[in-house]
Amino acid sequence: MLEHSQISEPLKVHIKELVDKAWAVRHPERTESETRALKDQIKQKLKQHNAVLVAHYYVDDELQDLADESGGCVADSLEMARFGYNHEADTVIVAGVRFMGETAKILSPEKRILMVETEAECSLDLACPIEEFSAFCDQHPDRTVVVYANTSADVKARADWVVTSSIALKVIKYLDEQGEKIIWAPDRFLGGYVQKQTGADMLLWQASCIVHEEFKSEALQGLMKQHPDAKVLVHPESPAAVVELADVVGSTSQIINAAKELDAQKFIVATESGIFHKMREAAPGKEFLEAPTAGEGASCESCAQCPWMKMNDLERLDKVLTDGSNEILIPEEVRVKAERSILRMVEFNK
Ligand code: 13P
Ligand code: SF4
Repeated sequence: MLEHSQISEPLKVHIKELVDKAWAVRHPERTESETRALKDQIKQKLKQHNAVLVAHYYVDDELQDLADESGGCVADSLEMARFGYNHEADTVIVAGVRFMGETAKILSPEKRILMVETEAECSLDLACPIEEFSAFCDQHPDRTVVVYANTSADVKARADWVVTSSIALKVIKYLDEQGEKIIWAPDRFLGGYVQKQTGADMLLWQASCIVHEEFKSEALQGLMKQHPDAKVLVHPESPAAVVELADVVGSTSQIINAAKELDAQKFIVATESGIFHKMREAAPGKEFLEAPTAGEGASCESCAQCPWMKMNDLERLDKVLTDGSNEILIPEEVRVKAERSILRMVEFNK
């Protein structure tokens, strides 16, 4: 398997600085009654502005609950965009990270798309800057360019296909059967997993998710020994050695469904910890354990929490609804090209 050279040191330092900045964000403390009052106020403002809240599974429980209670949705990255597209609201408010807001705008240009927090980044998106990526694609004009949804609008516009983790395997299998050679970006672990499963000829960009790369296979094996009756659910952004131990590998929605459908009472889950909220709702009475993010004695860097997802909170949402800030805007020529690459996946999925 061919691989693109590593992400540059200055870019790694930049990403680390943004991670530290995200962790430094402090959320105001509230009593239960203050939280209730704030949620009621937000619900009123959502109605007043004909706005709908769409949230990812990784944001805080209270934002997930508010999205559900106010007629919005909690979903994986693709379903969030689909929901916004099909909804009659004029304004869609995205609780998640920036690429999710951009995807919503790409698919719904006539709607006003607001982010709860525009500084909510994603390490995969950050580690795939358009200039470098475009130059890399130019060096391999014979290859079909497939990018993961966790990328900027510019990178999506440069691609032939956009895929999410739920459909990556099927699309690459199809392209391989057509005899196409592929450039894959940005997630090296998801790319490596897909390459291994399909045997496709893939050039892999070398970015990773700072949350999923922390899952450790040795410690996971230890936990599996302690709980031999548990099934292991893994998001494919995790390292190969962790993915190999999985009973089910899938997107956030797919592993929630697996927790519901599988005939097991106990699960070890390797993905961002925000997912447990919906998993417990989907499969009440079942037991969920976090996959280890560090080996014996080591300190865990992320503890299975995405610092950028955790920037989203009720106070920021309330502010955005009050002042209309954090609007996502995309130049039309970029949007149209990015839309074409996303719609290819949507059509393929039908
Ligand atoms: P999903 O598309 O599975 O929701 O994943 C998005 C993501 O950012 C995973 O880390
Ligand atoms: Fe990006 Fe990882 Fe956060 Fe998902 S969990 S948004 S892939 S940094």
